[in-house]
Amino acid sequence: MAYSIFWTVFACAYLTYARSVQVGTQSGIEECKHQFAWDRWNCPDSATQPKGLRRATRETSFVHAISAAGVMYTLTRNCSLGDLDNCGCDVSKNGKVGGRGWLWGGCSDNIEFGEKISRQYVDGQETGQDSRAAVNLHNNEAGRLAVKATLKRICRCHGMSESCSVQTCWTQLSDFREIGNYLKVKHSQAQKLDIDKTRMRAGNSADNRGVIADALGSIALTELIYLEDSPDYCRTNISLGLYGTEGRECVQHGESLTQWEKRSCRRLCHECGLRVEEKRTEVVSSCNCKFHWCCKVNCEDCSQVIVKHVCAKREGADGHGYKRRYRGPK
Ligand SMILES: *[C@@H]1O[C@H](CO)[C@@H](O)[C@H](O)[C@H]1NC(C)=O
Ligand SMILES: *[C@@H]1O[C@H](CO)[C@@H](O)[C@H](O)[C@H]1NC(C)=O
Repeated sequence: MAYSIFWTVFACAYLTYARSVQVGTQSGIEECKHQFAWDRWNCPDSATQPKGLRRATRETSFVHAISAAGVMYTLTRNCSLGDLDNCGCDVSKNGKVGGRGWLWGGCSDNIEFGEKISRQYVDGQETGQDSRAAVNLHNNEAGRLAVKATLKRICRCHGMSESCSVQTCWTQLSDFREIGNYLKVKHSQAQKLDIDKTRMRAGNSADNRGVIADALGSIALTELIYLEDSPDYCRTNISLGLYGTEGRECVQHGESLTQWEKRSCRRLCHECGLRVEEKRTEVVSSCNCKFHWCCKVNCEDCSQVIVKHVCAKREGADGHGYKRRYRGPK
């Protein structure tokens, strides 16, 4: 099946938004790379291409959700900024009372428009009728709901000398980072879809859709779901487009590191049977520059040592870094 997260939509009817959709997808993928920078699976390019998306793991669920969210987000922004002819801010509630002491006013982000275009383009890629297509569509929707769940209300004060006796408020998208953070939590809580295989095998395709719908019915729309367990992502598996963690950088010390980052060497190296190797590189740059009248600048060369940590094979370990305990048949 021709299927790709990078849209082949240039030939299709929705040409008007194709460029914005592409930008939105790309921002989703960049956010994925940021969110998973210190995970064993680090959102490799292979994960966003047909081969990587053939599976329906916890990780592909994230790729679908963040891409659908990215498209909705970008189109919503485009709308508010007046980039597009046929949409603008949502002013439908302006002037109405929103709550105690505040009225709707200003430019509320028009999320319905972004949502609609995301459905058309992103969900439109999903042509199958099988459980994988149903799971992908569910995860796309969960991504769009993440955009809604992170909307915020911004208010401005009015009244005598900004006394704030009256406020006007509008809804605004959060930074895309917030949506990435939100979906990263959903990824860690993702649920495996439990499909009744016996019923599935016995039924015809209409029955099967019923079986899938029943399984999906028990899961909230906001949750990410998957069908297959993930590999451990330690080892290289070229046919799955996975490169393993050997050679990956990890971080150990540093004041502003989160707990998750501080454990990255354990997670990427030790738990994958690899050791942590310290790599020192010397970087030479100009320093102590002095200006001499007129007109010369003299500098010294200063060298600075940069320390990095990377995962490396253990001595005496096999090609994948796992200690050889069992010598199987040759
Ligand atoms: C929509 O926004 C994106 C990102 O800001 C931008 O690259 C794109 O050109 C915009 N689309 C239009 C039609 O202006
Ligand atoms: C790669 O993954 C596939 C599918 O899970 C599996 O069948 C195959 O044995 C793996 N290859 C290696 C080298 O681990």
